Amino acid sequence: MSGTAVRHLISINDLTDADLRAIVERGAAFSAGEARPAGALAQDIVGVYFAKTSTRTRTAFSSGALRLGGRLVSYGPGDLQLNTGETTEDTGRVMSRMLDVLVARTAGDPAELRGWASQDRMSVVNAMTADEHPTQALTDLTTLLGHFGRVEGLRVLYVGEGNNTASALALALTRFPGVELDLRTPPGYGLEAPFAARASEQAAASGAVFRERHDMDDLPAGRDVIYTTRWQTTGTTKPDPDWRTLFAPFQVTPALWEHSPKAVFMHDLPAHRGDEVVAEVLDGPASIAFEQAENKMHSAMAVLEWCRGALAPEAAPSAPAAPAARP
Ligand code: CP
Repeated sequence: MSGTAVRHLISINDLTDADLRAIVERGAAFSAGEARPAGALAQDIVGVYFAKTSTRTRTAFSSGALRLGGRLVSYGPGDLQLNTGETTEDTGRVMSRMLDVLVARTAGDPAELRGWASQDRMSVVNAMTADEHPTQALTDLTTLLGHFGRVEGLRVLYVGEGNNTASALALALTRFPGVELDLRTPPGYGLEAPFAARASEQAAASGAVFRERHDMDDLPAGRDVIYTTRWQTTGTTKPDPDWRTLFAPFQVTPALWEHSPKAVFMHDLPAHRGDEVVAEVLDGPASIAFEQAENKMHSAMAVLEWCRGALAPEAAPSAPAAPAARP
């Protein structure tokens, strides 16, 4: 793709409103069977590099790329010369001469992915960094659109740590008019300040509402969605030995449905039943967490099409354009 603008997805902030909507609509169309994978990546080779564990995201992008006709090169945490001191910039420059897209879950530092993306040939997709999980948010909005037929105006209660999933969700949802996003996060474990500030600014501009509190009192009623995530985000530990005491009031139990009886339950998974959510909720009738997990693949296909220029905003509901030729 040398000479043309390469699309990277490092943060939800990298997407225009039109791009965000197009990816979500395309993912929902794949999910509903209204669109079928049509070889948009038939000329492409996709690198999949996971420095940390993953069940959903790695499988979603691998399966999605294959369904779109692409071929894969897969790397684990011990495979690259990064381990012997090669820079991320040099690694990206070399890979960009051989790959069309790199999907990467790095060791945690968000700046690392910008290093990979400092070249103009290969798209880089953030498959989760310490601060943000943008492809999860795209999956989540795809799931909301598929379930409710809209994102606008939805009332979402997020309960749990203000982690990378919450950050991306806040960045994405607050762009939609009428959305009410309430975060209830344990004291000291809220959304990182830059994400909260950006979400507040976007909400003010779009007509959404963004609120965060650090208690479980006076919960808003009539929510459409109750969402939680794992208390110990993949590969992380908490230095405070008493963190469970702080998190305990934020467990999702059936009591939360007393004031929101029609709410669906969402979880990015993996789940720890008995920690952030009780089994009765995760496995109960309100849960759409496993549909949400499947949507990671449908959304991944939409992301890959977008990266390769095969998904124009105005073309989102229809078949993708012909694939770009590999140089
Ligand atoms: N939700 C999510 O990112 O799952 P994995 O860590 O299994 O990819």
